[in-house]
Amino acid sequence: MGLLVVGGGLAACSEAGPPAQGQPDGQTQPEPDAGGPGGMGGQGQGQPEGWDDGIRLPLAEDLNPDPNIVEVAIAAQPAMVSLVPGGPTPVWTYNGQLPGPQIRARVGDRVIVHFTNQLPVETTVHWHGIRVPAAMDGMPGHSQAPVPPGGAFDYDFVVPDASTFWYHPHIDSARQVGDGLYAPFVVEDPAEPQDLGDEVVMVLSDLGVADDGSLQPEDSGGDLGTLFGREGNLLLVNGKIRPTLKARPGRPQRWRIINAAKARYFQIDLPGHTFVRIGGDGGLLSSPVQVKNPVLAPGERADLVVVPTGNEGDDLVARWMAYDRGFGTAFNRPPADLFVVHLEGSPVAPPASPPSIHRTIQPIPTEGATTVDIDLTMQNSSPLELGINGMVMPTFYAQVGETQVWTVTNRIEWDHPFHVHGFFFQVLGDDGRPLEPMEWKDTVNVPVNGTVHFVIRYDDRPGMWMFHCHILEHAEAGMMGMLSLREP
Ligand code: C2O
Ligand code: CU
Repeated sequence: MGLLVVGGGLAACSEAGPPAQGQPDGQTQPEPDAGGPGGMGGQGQGQPEGWDDGIRLPLAEDLNPDPNIVEVAIAAQPAMVSLVPGGPTPVWTYNGQLPGPQIRARVGDRVIVHFTNQLPVETTVHWHGIRVPAAMDGMPGHSQAPVPPGGAFDYDFVVPDASTFWYHPHIDSARQVGDGLYAPFVVEDPAEPQDLGDEVVMVLSDLGVADDGSLQPEDSGGDLGTLFGREGNLLLVNGKIRPTLKARPGRPQRWRIINAAKARYFQIDLPGHTFVRIGGDGGLLSSPVQVKNPVLAPGERADLVVVPTGNEGDDLVARWMAYDRGFGTAFNRPPADLFVVHLEGSPVAPPASPPSIHRTIQPIPTEGATTVDIDLTMQNSSPLELGINGMVMPTFYAQVGETQVWTVTNRIEWDHPFHVHGFFFQVLGDDGRPLEPMEWKDTVNVPVNGTVHFVIRYDDRPGMWMFHCHILEHAEAGMMGMLSLREP
């Protein structure tokens, strides 16, 4: 397992061969039954009784006895949830749960999802960040026909990378994701360190709910609402308002966090504490990095180790803090509570040193790469129309095996989280080298009037892919494009 214990910290060295087609390396094949799904070695031992009961997300039931196949049934369906005293809230869910059930697999597993649509409208499922074949990517009209009300579709693919992913619809996504259709998808690698901390998967989102429980109108604020991106008034952590997680003081926890909100950025604060970020969109980082206030743009994930400290009985309150994504989005907005970490049990000595992860990530060579220039543009302010290079849904081309350097320039005075389907990329610094620590990304924030460069190498999955802003109202307003990946 390549696990070395060094002075109370952990070092895992995976010696990786060259990356296959420029994609995440350093991941090994699973050993059968080394820590089953959800079964991080010793998960939760030493934490208080029922420590994660207030927050834990149920797993989708695996219907297949084969240890290398995860087979689940997922239905998109309306449901009522109770969030405010004034009345129930009608949401859209997977399997009646908000968020939907957690799918959990090991790297290399085959995943089969029997999907049924019980919504009154058509939908598809997109597996955000997972390198599936184009035909499984959930892009209506290109990957697959939309699944009509009452219809079904079987998704069937292998999960090649370990990380924290998520799934959500790809039709009318501001509404469908915004109304509750989102869920976590965790792919474990048994060769990664298993005891970085007791794991909690947290899906962050928000919902606009009136006092009587009804949903705020989809078009509140009109074009300006769309341009801001609609942020709900209720902050949800795993579908709950201000849930409580218990923690043994001094024992590390590993929080896998997903920002599933359609527009809200989450800047996280745990007063008196600093996080060690060990992973992001595409698995572990090349080395860990300390972060006081991690920021997740819509679509992004963070894998954080935190050691809750304090006295037995203390409540630590994790808070959302406003992040300035342009035009007064952080002006005069006080922090808001996300969840409570209730300290219980006698303190244990925290690890002597922070976790140390080492993952070999090879920089994708940029020599000879073709370049792609993307401008994020506003076509029209009323009715609002956003675009890419002055167009709505332009198509770009690439070949299997090709390396491209994308330069994404934000011509609008708002941040945009830029997401590419199907392929991870490496963000480049001004020197043209990957940022350190290195990591694989599928969503990157492009700041107000800023530019981001990244390098991407296409493996052998030809077809039509998509890229877009993950402020889903911006995507729906036209900030989307297509990538046609062809055989040479
Ligand atoms: Cu989560 Cu097309 O995206
Ligand atoms: Cu945007």
